[in-house]
This record gives sequence, C-alpha cells and structure tokens, in this order.
Amino acid sequence: YEDIAIEKTLRPQGLDEYIGQEKIKTNLKVYIEAAKARGESLDHILFYGPPGLGKTTLASIIANEMGVNLKVTSGPAIEKPGEMAAILNNLGEGDVLFIDEIHRLNRQVEEVLYPAMEDFAIDIMIGKGTTARSIRLDLPRFTLVGATTRAGLLTAPLRDRFGVINRLEFYTVDELKTIITRSAKVLNVEIDEDGAVEMARRSRGTPRLANRLLKRVRDFAQIKYNGHITKEVADYALNLLDVDKIGLDKGDRTILETIIYKFAGGPVGLDTLAASIGEDSGTLEDVYEPYLIQNGLIQRTPRGRIATPIAYEHLGIKQ
Ligand code: ADE
Repeated sequence: YEDIAIEKTLRPQGLDEYIGQEKIKTNLKVYIEAAKARGESLDHILFYGPPGLGKTTLASIIANEMGVNLKVTSGPAIEKPGEMAAILNNLGEGDVLFIDEIHRLNRQVEEVLYPAMEDFAIDIMIGKGTTARSIRLDLPRFTLVGATTRAGLLTAPLRDRFGVINRLEFYTVDELKTIITRSAKVLNVEIDEDGAVEMARRSRGTPRLANRLLKRVRDFAQIKYNGHITKEVADYALNLLDVDKIGLDKGDRTILETIIYKFAGGPVGLDTLAASIGEDSGTLEDVYEPYLIQNGLIQRTPRGRIATPIAYEHLGIKQ
C-alpha cells in the first residue's frame, strides 16, 4: 500500500502542481473553467506524444479539476463493441473516460465511439436476421480523453471528433530538475541542486524516467553513500545503470551504432533498422526516435534514417 501511495503522490493531483507543458496547461485551465461555468461536460481531448510525458497524469488531473470520476482503459483492452458499450453506459454524468493507446482500438469498437462522442448515444442491434433492428440508447454526457504515441495512426473520423488535440513535448532540464526535487521530497531522500541537475540532464526529457531513476539512485545513495544524492552519487549510479551523459540508454546507443557501423551512417529504412536491432518498428519510431531526432542525433530523410555528425561526436567515433 505504501508503494501505491508513493506512486500516487509522485503524480501531481491538480494543474497548479503540474510542472511543464505550459501551453497545454494554460489552455486546459480555460476550457475547464468555461465548461464548469456553463455546467457542461468538457469537450473530448486527445493527447499524443512519446511515452512517459504525462498523458495519463493529465487525464487524472482533468477529472480532479472537473470534480468527476475517472475511468481508465486502453485500446487493446476493449475487444468487442459490446464491451465498449458497457463501459460507456456505466459512466456517470460528466465523467472522464481515459483510453490509452487509443490508436489500437479495433474498427468495430471504434465505431461505437462515433455516436457516443458526437451525440452521447449508442446504437444497439436487437434481434437477428430479418427482424434485426437498431435502437438508440442515450448516454450520460462524458469527456473522452484519448492518448496515443502517434496521432498519425488515428483514423480521420476518430481524430475529427476530438475538440482539443494536444501534443506533449519533452521536458526541459529545468522542469525535470523541479520534478525530481519535488519527487525527492515525497520519497524522503535528500538531493542537492547539482545532484538534481545531473539527474535532470540524464532523464531523456521524460518525467516517468526521471522518477524511476530517482528511486534507483536513492538506493545507491543509501547503500554506498550517506543517503544524500549529490552530483557525484548521481553520476556514479547513472553510470552503473548505463545511462550516459545526455540520458541515452543502451537501446539508444545500439540504434546509433547500428546506423553507423552496419549501414555506414545511413540512410537506412525504418524496417531494416528495426529488424537489424531486433526491435519492433513501431517501438523504434514512437519510443526511441523522437528523443534522438529532437537532440539532432539522427535525421529522417526520404531515403531513411541517417546518423548525424552529432551522433558520431557523442559516441566518439571518427567519421
Ligand atoms: N511527476 C511526473 N510528472 C510530473 C509533472 N509534469 N509535474 C509534476 N510532477 C510530476
């Protein structure tokens, strides 16, 4: 129970506690206040972007701020249209339904969502064969919050039914430093400014990773040092965890080295590269590439991925 409690408190509960994603936050505040003033449910919202940046956290904050219940599910978890209909039918007035990995809903399940999102109703087939007919069932007004690592994989009819579409960005070192400092308080571990900055630099722009690394660095601080996280402790622990100076892990470095050594620096196609490192191409594209591209280590060209001079320099490889 302690773990669950800590996990919960590492996540901010309200928008004012939430660090980063300033533009999204500012706009959400307006939408929430306006909907509440009108006594309406909030419009449907889509969040997209790399994993670990706070999509689930934002859904939970939205429910808190609206003062409604949150129901959490995911695209692959809903297999049949009837399951989706049951979930929708069990929502309370104004509730938030969060669907993670919403791009993975199957077609028939997704089609239940169209009238639900647009008219707060579902069409149910009664009977079989020539006597089959459909009846319309009214639903409570609800807010769908969808999350996906790739908005490009959503069908147009689904995407078009969201009133708000937000892309989450990687966090700055400064934002991560604030998150880590706050989390250290929750975890009851001392961390100094330089320690927090070192950890922030090596957290890949991702709060989920920052919090995970903080727990591991805390272990090293406790056993190998006096329980206090300094820059030296952070550096020692992160090196042992194979997290390099700019936060790349073994997987990231394997990608860069594969492009450089096996494909002469590229260009190499996504599927070829994925097969070569034994990784699923979707994971490569959604999980690994965004950070490498943002930091100028790889580039996407029409003929495939290339390793940039920054990648060679970072790995200490002569071009
Ligand atoms: N913990 C994880 N993500 C956070 C965020 N964006 N703000 C504050 N605390 C967090």
